[in-house]
Amino acid sequence: MKNPYIINTHSHANMLKDTNIDQAIQNAQEAKIITIVPSSTADDIFEVDKFIQKYDDVFGYVGVFPEEVKTFTEKTLNDMESIIRSNPKIIGIGEVGLDYYWDKSFKELQKEVFIKQIEFANEMNLPLNIHSREAHLDTLEILKKYNKNSTAILHCFSGSLEFALTCIKEGIYIALGGVVTFKNAIKAKEVAENIPLDYLLLETDDPYLAPVPFRGKENQPMYVKYVAECIANLRSIPTDEVAKTTTQNAERIFNFNAK
Ligand code: NI
Repeated sequence: MKNPYIINTHSHANMLKDTNIDQAIQNAQEAKIITIVPSSTADDIFEVDKFIQKYDDVFGYVGVFPEEVKTFTEKTLNDMESIIRSNPKIIGIGEVGLDYYWDKSFKELQKEVFIKQIEFANEMNLPLNIHSREAHLDTLEILKKYNKNSTAILHCFSGSLEFALTCIKEGIYIALGGVVTFKNAIKAKEVAENIPLDYLLLETDDPYLAPVPFRGKENQPMYVKYVAECIANLRSIPTDEVAKTTTQNAERIFNFNAK
């Protein structure tokens, strides 16, 4: 797509249930929105590979999600590598990371698989789309220690402004989604209002976390424009400026102009 309006850096468009997927993708295309779809398990990397080939302006990440690290095997990185080599629409590794919210019983395994995927992203020279929940300090420490050359993006950022600024100092990007539109999301609003725009990315994480005015309903890729609008209001700047700068950020990270 020439001159996309917004790049939605994290959407599980393949997981929509109440919304027709073809229609949701078409809505995004018509709004000049590029959608990037992560995988979650060692098996659905194949599904994401196929899914993104069906649609224009839809790209993907391969990676194993922290809650799914038990699906990660000896052959997972080989599978990812062959998908990356055969499908140029795979533009990053994700979603990977740490999640201590649901289950703390396999923290060590989560760390081990996260590190392996960071090293793999470095080898492939691809950016990392990172899920970090109640694991902020470990995530940052591991990135500082193991990440050599991949741009890291903290998706659905849930930390404080202070932590966001610490990450930005390390060259890490902050991605915000629908949560920023929620009335009592004080931390997310503070981050959205104050971080340098050059380190901000937009996303939806659909089908979850639909922004206001769709809160509680099924989210979809095009709703990313409500995220942009909310952030623009918080910063008292035009929505187009948020859209333009975050699009340039994503184009730079994913090297879109070469694609
Ligand atoms: Ni996600």
